[in-house]
Amino acid sequence: MTSLPEELARWLPRASERVAGLTPEPRLEQVGRVRRVGDGVAVVAGLPETRLDELIVFANGAHGLAVTLDDESFGCFLLSSHEGIGAGSLVRGTGQVIRVPVGEGLLGRIVNPLGQPLDGGPPVEADRYDPVERPAPAIADRDLVSQPLHSGLVVVDSMVPLGRGQRELIIGDRKTGKTAIAIDTIVNQRDTDVICIYAAIGQRESAVSRSVAPLRERGDFSRCIVVVAEASAPAGTQWLAPYAACTMAEYFSERGRDVLLVLDDLTKHANVHRQLSLLLRNPPGREAYPGDVFYLHGRLLERAAKLSPERGGGSLTALPIAETQAGNLTAYIPTNLISITDGQIYLEPKLFYEGHKPAVDVSRSVSRVGGKTQAAAMRAVADTLKLDYAQFLELEAFTRFGGLSDERTQRTIEHGRRIRAVLEQPQLQPLRLSEQVALLLALKEGLLDEVSLEDVPRFKELVREHLPRSCGRAMTHIDERHELGEGQRNQLLAALRALVEGLRDEPDEEG
Ligand SMILES: Nc1ncnc2c1ncn2[C@@H]1O[C@H](COP(=O)(O)OP(=O)(O)OP(=O)(O)O)[C@@H](O)[C@H]1O
Ligand SMILES: [Mg+2]
Repeated sequence: MTSLPEELARWLPRASERVAGLTPEPRLEQVGRVRRVGDGVAVVAGLPETRLDELIVFANGAHGLAVTLDDESFGCFLLSSHEGIGAGSLVRGTGQVIRVPVGEGLLGRIVNPLGQPLDGGPPVEADRYDPVERPAPAIADRDLVSQPLHSGLVVVDSMVPLGRGQRELIIGDRKTGKTAIAIDTIVNQRDTDVICIYAAIGQRESAVSRSVAPLRERGDFSRCIVVVAEASAPAGTQWLAPYAACTMAEYFSERGRDVLLVLDDLTKHANVHRQLSLLLRNPPGREAYPGDVFYLHGRLLERAAKLSPERGGGSLTALPIAETQAGNLTAYIPTNLISITDGQIYLEPKLFYEGHKPAVDVSRSVSRVGGKTQAAAMRAVADTLKLDYAQFLELEAFTRFGGLSDERTQRTIEHGRRIRAVLEQPQLQPLRLSEQVALLLALKEGLLDEVSLEDVPRFKELVREHLPRSCGRAMTHIDERHELGEGQRNQLLAALRALVEGLRDEPDEEG
C-alpha cells in the first residue's frame, strides 16, 4: 500500500500540468432562487430572461414549466415532486421550451406526458423532440373534413357520424359510458390505417388499466400510443398530458397519416389547471376557474384538423371527453367545450340506468361536420332514422301514462322499440359498415317489425353470422366503396327476409 504523501507526489505534477493547459474564462450563468414552493407549483425570483413555457431545472434535478411571468419573479408548474426543493434553492433556466419525443418508436407504447415509458419497456426511441405547445394549422393549410371515421357503433355512425379531422365532444355524467365509446372507436380502427392515441388525464390507475386492456386484446395496439398522467402524478404532468399527446399525434398527421386522439378527460384537465392557477394566486373567475380556461382548451383543440393536400392531406381527429354534473350542459367547462368542438355525443344517465347502452341521447347529440362525410350506403338507410326515433321517444313518453293509442300510434311505438333495440350495442363489439347498413335496411324496410322485440338481439347475431357468407360480395362492396347499389340492396333484402322467416319458424321447430 502506498502512503498518502507518495500518492499526492505522483498526482500533483499531472494535476498542475492539466491546470497549466487551461485558460480560465469568465462564464456568466444566471441562477434564480425559489421563493415559494408546494402543491405542484413554485415561484422563482431572479431569472429575468425566462420565457413562457420554458423548461427550468431545480438544483435537485427536478423540472418545471414557466407559466406566469411577473416583474421580478415567475410562476411554474412542477413536473415532478417538490421533494428536495425549498425556499432559496437554486434554479437554472434552459432557454428551451418544453419538448416531448415523437416518432414511430412511440407506437405500441404506454408513456407518461414526458415520453418516458410506463410499460416496463426500454426507453422510447425518439425520431425528434417537438414542443408540446405548437400553433394550430393556419386556415390555408386546412381542408374540408371529407372522409368518415367509423366508430363501429350504430348509434354514432348512423346519427352522429364522425369525419376525419373533426373534433367531437363526448359528454355526460360520471359512469355513463363515455370512455367506452372512445375505446370502442379505437378498437374499431384495427381494420383501418388510423393511428390512435389515448390520453388518460387524472384518472385512477385501475381505470386506466381497464381502458387499456381492450386496446391490447381487441385493437391493433401496434398502431396505438397511450399517454398516462394518472391522478397521483404531479399536477404539472397532468396539465401537460393533452398537449403532449397532441404533439405526438401531429407527428403522424403531418406525414399524411390519419390520427385519432382521445382526451379522457378535459374536465379533470380544467380542474388541474384551476388548482395550479389558484396556487399561483391568479385571479379566479367563473366557478373559480381562471380567465384563460377557454383559451386553455381552444388552443389545444384547434390543433385538430384535416390538412390540405399541399400539407400532406393527413388528419387529426379529436375526441375530447367531458364530465357533467347532473346533466348540466350549461356549466362553464361543458359550454366552453361545446362551443369549441364540432358537435357532441351526449350520454344520458337515465338511458344508461334503463339499460339502453350506449346511452346516447340522440336529440341532444349533433355532429356539425361529420354528416357530409357519411358513407352513401349509410345515408341511404339512415336518412329518416333520427326523426323516426325522436317521434317514437315523444310518443312513448306520452302514452306511458295511458294516453290515446290508436293503431297507427301503436305501430310507430313498436317500430321505435325496434330502432332502440338496433341501436343498443354491447361494449367492444364494433359492427362493420356493411353490418350496420344491413341492420338499418331491415329496419327501414319494415322487416324487423315482423320480428318480436325479444328476438331482435338474436336477429342481430344472425346478421353478423350469415350475411358475410350469404351475400359476401355485396357486404365487401359496401365496406370498400361505401355505396349501396340496387343490386346489393336486393341481395341484402332477400337474405334479411330469409333470416326473418327463419326466426319466425324457430319457435315452431323447437316446439
Ligand atoms: N355499451 C355498453 N354496454 C354495456 N356496458 C357498458 C357499455 N358502455 C359502458 N358500459 C359499462 O358502463 C360502465 C361505465 O362505463 P365508462 O367507464 O365507459 O363510463 P365513463 O362515463 O367513462 O365513467 P367515468 O365517469 O368513471 O369516466 C362500465 O362498467 C362499462 O363497462
Ligand atoms: Mg371514463
